[in-house]
Amino acid sequence: MKVAVIGAGTMGSGIGQAFAQSDAVEKVYLCDIKQEFADGGKAKIKKNLDRQVAKGKMEQAKADEILGKVVTGLADIAVDPDLVVEAVLEKMDLKQSTFRNLQENIVKNPDCIYASNTSSLSITEIGTGLAKPVVGMHFFNPAPVMKLVEVIQGANTPDSVVAKVKEISETIGKTPVQVNEAAGFVVNRILVPMINEAINVYYTGTSDIQGIDTAMKLGCNHPMGPLELGDYIGLDVVLAIMDVLFADTHDNKYAASPLLRKMVRAKHLGVKTGIGFYKYNADRTKTPVDQL
Ligand code: 3HC
Repeated sequence: MKVAVIGAGTMGSGIGQAFAQSDAVEKVYLCDIKQEFADGGKAKIKKNLDRQVAKGKMEQAKADEILGKVVTGLADIAVDPDLVVEAVLEKMDLKQSTFRNLQENIVKNPDCIYASNTSSLSITEIGTGLAKPVVGMHFFNPAPVMKLVEVIQGANTPDSVVAKVKEISETIGKTPVQVNEAAGFVVNRILVPMINEAINVYYTGTSDIQGIDTAMKLGCNHPMGPLELGDYIGLDVVLAIMDVLFADTHDNKYAASPLLRKMVRAKHLGVKTGIGFYKYNADRTKTPVDQL
């Protein structure tokens, strides 16, 4: 199977790695709008694989084989994929134009499946006006590790495409859960308001950053505290999902925290900008930063 991943950021490169690690996948086209962005995505994959080799969890030869499957470039290298997974920014018009360009000008394989890794946008709307249907294939960060793939059926997604994507997910060692289209699907509908609530708990002075994260880690057995997880996902992504939930429902329970909005304006986005609720140091340690 050949897979094209469009967008080589955190999710795109992780998704590329998840596919390249499968014996069923012979090639991953990792594409972005600039060659250097695509190369940067491949460098992230190399770093992860190097870590596995250093820990003695993977042979160097296996790491080389996985990395060797990843070809980087602009979208125009994706001529013959069996599956396209779009992981560009969460902007409806960008996602629509990306699929249109792929379907009309680039991909020559008539049986190619078109999937979006959108975290909350409407699959039906993304697919509107396109010649070929779009299905949701939603991975979780870090994509090479997290087992779940939400497979989302839009109003115009045929059952056969959904079934095929579930089968592909299993082939690469993931567990698919089929969901109907709804803002935030299942996980982000539940998880992201929880993170937003944790931000409000901090904003209203109930506890400090470490207190909230420690409480949720030890009190609920979560692997990461909610503020740490918000930083990890990217606070801009968290805000975008809250705004989609609110726009779709007009329910005040989905109103984004004013502190979240302020931090996004300040580019305190978390790991990706080096600062959020924590400051991320070069030695991989992190220290809480008061944001009030
Ligand atoms: N890429 C690849 N592999 C990674 C990785 C990354 N970015 N980060 C960690 N790993 C691997 C490590 O190499 C390690 O592998 P090994 O067991 O084979 O050695 C394994 O994951 C565990 O890593 P660590 O020992 O370094 O650290 P932890 O045990 O603390 O686990 C974690 C790290 C898996 C990130 C864990 O803290 C966790 O599960 N956190 C919660 C993540 C989560 O909730 N994700 C969902 C976010 S929501 C989302 O993505 C949806 C989107 O639409 C917003």
